[in-house]
Amino acid sequence: MDLTQTRPHILRRPMPARKRKTVGIDLGTTNTVVARNFEALSIEGSGCVMPSAVAFPPSGATLVGSAARRRRAMDPKNTVLSAKRIIGARWRSSYTGQFREHYPYDLVEGPDGWAVFKTRAGLKCPVDIGGTVVSGLCELTKCPVQDVHAVVTAPVGFDRRRREATSLAVSKAKFASVRVIEEPIATALAYLNRASLKYAFVYDLGGGTFDAAVVDCSSYPFRVIGHGGDPYLGGDDVDRTIALHVADRTLARDGWDLSNDAVTFDRLVLACELAKCELSESEQAAIAIPSVDAAAPESCGIITITREEVQQLTLDLVRRTFAMCDEVLAQAGVKARDMEAIFLAGGSTRLPGLRGYIESYFGKRPRFDLDPMQVVSMGASLAAARPAVAELLDPCA
Ligand SMILES: Nc1ncnc2c1ncn2[C@@H]1O[C@H](COP(=O)(O)OP(=O)(O)OP(=O)(O)O)[C@@H](O)[C@H]1O
Ligand SMILES: [Mg+2]
Repeated sequence: MDLTQTRPHILRRPMPARKRKTVGIDLGTTNTVVARNFEALSIEGSGCVMPSAVAFPPSGATLVGSAARRRRAMDPKNTVLSAKRIIGARWRSSYTGQFREHYPYDLVEGPDGWAVFKTRAGLKCPVDIGGTVVSGLCELTKCPVQDVHAVVTAPVGFDRRRREATSLAVSKAKFASVRVIEEPIATALAYLNRASLKYAFVYDLGGGTFDAAVVDCSSYPFRVIGHGGDPYLGGDDVDRTIALHVADRTLARDGWDLSNDAVTFDRLVLACELAKCELSESEQAAIAIPSVDAAAPESCGIITITREEVQQLTLDLVRRTFAMCDEVLAQAGVKARDMEAIFLAGGSTRLPGLRGYIESYFGKRPRFDLDPMQVVSMGASLAAARPAVAELLDPCA
């Protein structure tokens, strides 16, 4: 993998705004979104958000997005999810070590010292996986790439090598150029558009990671003055916690164990994720056990989970995010009350009760009027379309 390939793209001088076709891309650990002119592009029939998943089934096909994600339990070694966690990471790095503890993949050292996935379709590096995800999404959203200039977001914690790898992944989709902007800066930009207030706090709780940042928005370029988080804390943990709770209840009530078969348990996790999302609209949500496990007796019927239950189950996770907010504020040398605005990003900020806790923590109502799963890509699309885009960006230098 030649990471230096990204250089000519990064250094290319931007064309005048009216002639440029641009997009912003949020290549997330869990989901990927592409936006143009402040609007996330939709995939026919399934919203704007595509799972960052690639599968290599025995047929020899390459599946992307939801079709790939559905195969994760039945063929885990050939269904790659969360590749962003090790994009641009060396085989001997702590990122790779931690990843191997959490995921079932056959991960090996590539010929050039990078961590790569060994799949039935051959060795695939995380940059290839990212490129396949972005190309697949562009196809599904009918987003052209020729002569289009892209801005992709990367976490603040990414070093130069990881930002370059992210940029290279996106350039594999054949965009005219690719630049990188930090995720909380994209979020702040989406909300503010222009430099205005002094300090904003970005609280981003996604599917797999929690990121918190203090952004100085008083002048261009916006600057992250403190950041932190947990790369293994997010909605996936919530889904597993709910699934274990439902499995315990089913075992106690019906004597049926949903947790001792990996495929069944994974179906339960997916069913719990759907139920969790339903709780944003209603007080309770139902999970039909026979549809999770076809072998379960009819008498197992339905398990209902409530908002209150999920709020209790996620209290510990939520406390951990605030402990990290404390650290980030201390690092930036500011107080929670100094924040003039709190911007929410990441789908898990819709968890029951969470927005209330955030309001209590900061003493201020957080902003969530932009869709938290789209806001990062929307901010990136603004950066991409700006004539003076270069000064807003975090160059890979
Ligand atoms: N209504 C909802 N209530 C609770 N959680 C939700 C809701 N909608 C989506 N989520 C969760 O949001 C998570 C995905 O969020 P998002 O797409 O922002 O993640 P991501 O940016 O790809 O991940 P990461 O930030 O870890 O890189 C999933 O865990 C999903 O279940
Ligand atoms: Mg995200």
